[in-house]
Amino acid sequence: MIRTDTDLQPFNTLTSAARAKYFAEATDYQGLHEALEFARRKQLPILPLGGGSNIVLTGDFPGLALHMGLKGLEFEPAEEGATRITAAAGENWHQLVMNSVARGLGGLENLALIPGNIGAAPIQNIGAYGVELKDTFHSLTAMEIATGDLVEFSAEACQFGYRDSVFKQSARDRFLICEVRLQLPGSWRAQISYPALQQYFAETGQALESLTPEDVAEAVIAIRNSKLPNPVHIPNAGSFFKNPVVTGEQYQVLKQRYPDLVAFSIGDDWKLAAGWLIDRAGWRGFARDGVGVHERQALVLVNPGHQCGGKVVALAREIAADIHTKFGVELEAEPRFYPDSLPDSPGAGRQSTSA
Ligand code: FAD
Ligand code: EPU
Repeated sequence: MIRTDTDLQPFNTLTSAARAKYFAEATDYQGLHEALEFARRKQLPILPLGGGSNIVLTGDFPGLALHMGLKGLEFEPAEEGATRITAAAGENWHQLVMNSVARGLGGLENLALIPGNIGAAPIQNIGAYGVELKDTFHSLTAMEIATGDLVEFSAEACQFGYRDSVFKQSARDRFLICEVRLQLPGSWRAQISYPALQQYFAETGQALESLTPEDVAEAVIAIRNSKLPNPVHIPNAGSFFKNPVVTGEQYQVLKQRYPDLVAFSIGDDWKLAAGWLIDRAGWRGFARDGVGVHERQALVLVNPGHQCGGKVVALAREIAADIHTKFGVELEAEPRFYPDSLPDSPGAGRQSTSA
């Protein structure tokens, strides 16, 4: 059933008020076809919605907001002791991780407590604590918005990168992800190379060989709870910026000036911890007019005043400009903005630099 003039505040974890001209909840393929047919007839843009934990609503949406509520989860044995998981778009990501861990299956534990649903996980190739979706991804089924056809995507076709995939590039806004298949390996080894995890297990004294997937999930949950705000209590969209990648030369200049700079080498380039840059620039804990910067993680912008997305984006732009002035580094927004640009400030919603 299509609703009109619907409040999207409950559908975004930043809790910004915005209205969708039309809204539909699809729980099966038939519902998706009907919603797409309606949108085609009226020539409406579509906003696919999962848990709303990676979007910023900067204004009303003039098309059809389509909540992807497809359910279904299946675990089955695959070759060489592996396990194949088939999950529908509307299943909750963290519940899937905990379900796997409870079965003693390894591979997803580092990705515990990431908010949102399965359908959005491939969009930015979710990642945390040294693991990304792509590491266990097998394939997905998506519905082409223009035709209603079902299309299969292999891991290669998804073109996964750091917080990136084909669905943010050439296939942007063209597909609804309906079903995702993961393949967990038959043999497992704990991935605890991420500094915070190493430190956690150094403190608990647990030996690497004795760790279970459940132990690692527990550690990840404890670390995340110690610094990331729970959106149920403090509205936020996770990291507001991607960690910027700079050349070895740029890194050397910054490292000389700031010996405690946090960065990870990736080949010849370096990925800088944007949270460190924003913290060092003095923004951590900043608050103004109901929006601010989280006091324990400067990469996370918060919206305790339930302000409109435009206010959050305005703060993000201010921060990005300051980081550019102080460190010569460009920050790129991680969440997607809807509508894509702010009416009162041209280009402000672009997904590229300066938020
Ligand atoms: P939504 O916000 O609903 O949608 C995100 C984008 O995907 C939108 O463009 C939407 O249109 C599109 N989309 C959603 N579902 C579909 C679908 N079925 N088909 C096609 N398009 C779709 N991310 C990480 O990678 N690592 C983290 O550690 C992490 N930590 C976070 C911590 C917090 C506290 C919060 C609030 C967010 C965090 N995130 C993290 C970001 C977010 O959780 C992920 O990006 C997640 O995958 C978003 O899922 P969602 O269902 O909420 O997507
Ligand atoms: N740091 C500071 N001050 C801060 C924040 C961070 O000095 O205010 C330093 C930390 O001390 C640490 C480094 O920066 O040395 C990195 O911090 P953290 O481990 O918290 O990770 P992050 O780089 O800030 C990224 C992801 C997170 C993911 C974590 C764990 C991005 C954009 N963010 O954050 O993902 O959970 O690593 O892997 O890559 C998200 O995408 O929404 C998200 C939360």
